[in-house]
Amino acid sequence: MTSSSISILSKIIIILISSSVSITITATDDDNFRGAVFGVNSKFSGKERSLSLFKAHDSLRHLQILASGVDLPLGGTGRPDAVGLYYARIGIGTPPKEYYVQVDTGSDIMWINCIQCRECPKRGYHGLELTLYDPEDSFTSKPVTCASEFCAEINGGAVTGCKPNASCLYTETYGDGSYSIGYFVMDIVQYDSVSGDLETKLANGSVIFGCGARQSGNLGSSDEALDGILGFGKSNSSIISQLASSGKVKQMFAHCLDGDNGGGIFAIGHVVQPKVNSTPLIQDEPHYAANVMRIEVGAQFLNLSTSTNASGDKRRTIIDSGTTLAYLPDAIYKSMVNEIVAAQPDLRLRTLHDQYTCFEFSGSVDDGFPAVTFYFENSLSLTVYPHDYLFAFEDSLCFGWQNNGLDSLSTTDTILLGDLVLSNKLVLYDLENQTIGWTEYNCSSTIKLRDEITGSVHLVGPHSIPSGGSRIPSRYLISLLITVLLYLMMIS
Ligand SMILES: *[C@@H]1O[C@H](CO)[C@@H](O)[C@H](O)[C@H]1NC(C)=O
Ligand SMILES: *[C@@H]1O[C@H](CO)[C@@H](O)[C@H](O)[C@H]1NC(C)=O
Ligand SMILES: *[C@@H]1O[C@H](CO)[C@@H](O)[C@H](O)[C@H]1NC(C)=O
Ligand SMILES: *[C@@H]1O[C@H](CO)[C@@H](O)[C@H](O)[C@H]1NC(C)=O
Repeated sequence: MTSSSISILSKIIIILISSSVSITITATDDDNFRGAVFGVNSKFSGKERSLSLFKAHDSLRHLQILASGVDLPLGGTGRPDAVGLYYARIGIGTPPKEYYVQVDTGSDIMWINCIQCRECPKRGYHGLELTLYDPEDSFTSKPVTCASEFCAEINGGAVTGCKPNASCLYTETYGDGSYSIGYFVMDIVQYDSVSGDLETKLANGSVIFGCGARQSGNLGSSDEALDGILGFGKSNSSIISQLASSGKVKQMFAHCLDGDNGGGIFAIGHVVQPKVNSTPLIQDEPHYAANVMRIEVGAQFLNLSTSTNASGDKRRTIIDSGTTLAYLPDAIYKSMVNEIVAAQPDLRLRTLHDQYTCFEFSGSVDDGFPAVTFYFENSLSLTVYPHDYLFAFEDSLCFGWQNNGLDSLSTTDTILLGDLVLSNKLVLYDLENQTIGWTEYNCSSTIKLRDEITGSVHLVGPHSIPSGGSRIPSRYLISLLITVLLYLMMIS
């Protein structure tokens, strides 16, 4: 464990805490959007979105080209001892250059850092070589002006003071106070389109994305920096929502994060195998959230109604692949940890770095500790095993469960479940039916997607980023490769 990892972990905590504050703010703010594409943010979860929703009609036109499916190589791992961050590699521009973007179900727009960014680091997460996008270097880059329909839509009307040919600006503010500021551009995004069983071919489509000119806070920290963020949230501004509102694609996607080997699968489209049970998404919630009805530790149910909580026994629970750990209200956290350690009376708990509750233990954690099961509405359950919720840290084992420590605020009713809980499961987001579901799954194996146009079913499996792209130190490459699959379905 390096000290840089420690500092990253601590930032994760700070951001997540602020994120739970921003949850209520955003929940009452009906114009929030959710991101589109791939989501797993450890550092960016809970961002408070400052953009109003946008239904980019003009970009939709181009995005329709994306409809046959995409296979996007991802890197990263959700295990906290490896910092926990999933990212995709995408090609942008003509000629295309490669960019690493964090996949984030917790946000709604795509942006990458641009040539104007002076404070952007050259190397980022895991030593990735970062690239600033230069619109002038790309033949296919087009400006998006403040007079465009797109800009009017994201601003909720005509932009005041808009001068001819002036850019459409954005500000994306995050829960921890960091931000990205820039302007929108349109350019070609290159991707691997799904063309058969475990087969892809290169394809491209135009998208509108933010060109980041300034950034602050953790976004610029070289430990964590990437080229940008690909938001896969549920608001109308997200790419998946834009596509769906054009009536051309199924608003469904799925991820399978391999917590053991790193990598996994990320697919947009109609997953027909594995089958998953699902639970309704909470409608007024900008994040992907569902109600937890019961939590069981071993054979013991926790009392969920210990704090004043208007919704009775239900617990609003956010599912965010962009978060690494899992955050619980104080009362739930305490009773859960008590229950988990009950079978090991000799255990001495201690706090490391003021953040992690840890202990020394030798032996099989799955034999020594109970599993934790969350029961959602509609009989959907989610079981988290000790080897998932415990992580190795400085010769100790620490709980991935975190106390959000904010029980004095009404927002603490919210549980936030990140990769720790979601890994080794196929998680299916169905925005058409407004449900989320999952099933335990081997993320090194394949899934099946149905092409809505032809009706054919294709196998989609994990791939590896070719090691020729030796921008990633090789020791990470081995374990960090994920395949991200965008399987965009045309309805017509
Ligand atoms: C995008 O796709 C079109 C047609 O599929 C192709 O002619 C063009 O060269 C591609 N552009 C890039 C930058 O890959
Ligand atoms: C998002 O778009 C859908 C379909 O166009 C629409 O029904 C819905 O009201 C929009 N949501 C918001 C928050 O505007
Ligand atoms: C969505 O709901 C409709 C109507 O209940 C159902 O027919 C359809 O199968 C559902 N889609 C999925 C992917 O479950
Ligand atoms: C997961 O799937 C891969 C590929 O099919 C296989 O090699 C591996 O043994 C499986 N792992 C488990 C635990 O079944």
